[in-house]
Amino acid sequence: MASKAYSAATFMVPALLLLSLFCLHIAEAEAEAKVKLGREKISHLHFYFHDLVSGKNVTAVKVASAPTTNSSATLFGTVMVMDDWLTEGPAATSKMVGRAQGIYVSSSQEKFHLLMASTFVFESGKYNGSTLAMVGKNAALEQVREMPIVGGSGLFRLARGYALARTHSLELNTGNAVVEYNVTVLHY
Ligand SMILES: *[C@@H]1O[C@H](CO)[C@@H](O)[C@H](O)[C@H]1NC(C)=O
Ligand SMILES: *[C@@H]1O[C@H](CO)[C@@H](O)[C@H](O)[C@H]1NC(C)=O
Ligand SMILES: *[C@@H]1O[C@H](CO)[C@@H](O)[C@H](O)[C@H]1NC(C)=O
Ligand SMILES: *[C@@H]1O[C@H](CO)[C@@H](O)[C@H](O)[C@H]1NC(C)=O
Repeated sequence: MASKAYSAATFMVPALLLLSLFCLHIAEAEAEAKVKLGREKISHLHFYFHDLVSGKNVTAVKVASAPTTNSSATLFGTVMVMDDWLTEGPAATSKMVGRAQGIYVSSSQEKFHLLMASTFVFESGKYNGSTLAMVGKNAALEQVREMPIVGGSGLFRLARGYALARTHSLELNTGNAVVEYNVTVLHY
């Protein structure tokens, strides 16, 4: 019995020490988080999005549709998966800054509206490795479409904001499009 009590105490002391160190670290992390909370900033990003559905570099593929999709004026029910290029300028040979990975879905029976659910994955400069999540309605035939930015990661933690998109060019024979994006986000 005595030896058991002794060994419990020997473990208790280092355990308590460890626990207090752990609490200290949590307190430090909280203090750091509080400091950063006071430093919210606004960033503006500008890039071109290449949605290539045919040709030698296909970046968006149709993965599903409904039996009625072909007879729908809005191709209602089409589901596309994209790994679209994001470049600095409008040319396909312009510097690659990231990808738009996700889906777009024809989701209106009356208008050509898409549900976009896309992660902008940045691959260059200070935003390399950071992401922004965009989810919302893309009224694809309107000149300028606004979509919400609902979150982010890396340098874009806790991001919120909006994206404005305008078609820069659309090849009617291939369906390939280049879209200009201006993204405004608040983040820490
Ligand atoms: C586009 O396709 C060409 C030819 O297949 C290839 O050389 C090039 O690397 C591709 N570009 C990208 C960005 O994947
Ligand atoms: C719809 O049209 C596409 C392209 O013309 C064709 O490949 C596909 O088989 C059609 N789907 C149905 C369900 O008829
Ligand atoms: C982006 O980060 C990855 C992973 O850290 C690295 O391999 C890559 O070279 C970086 N790209 C640029 C353009 O800095
Ligand atoms: C993006 O911003 C630039 C510079 O202010 C402007 O010239 C361009 O028209 C904007 N494009 C969109 C789609 O908002």
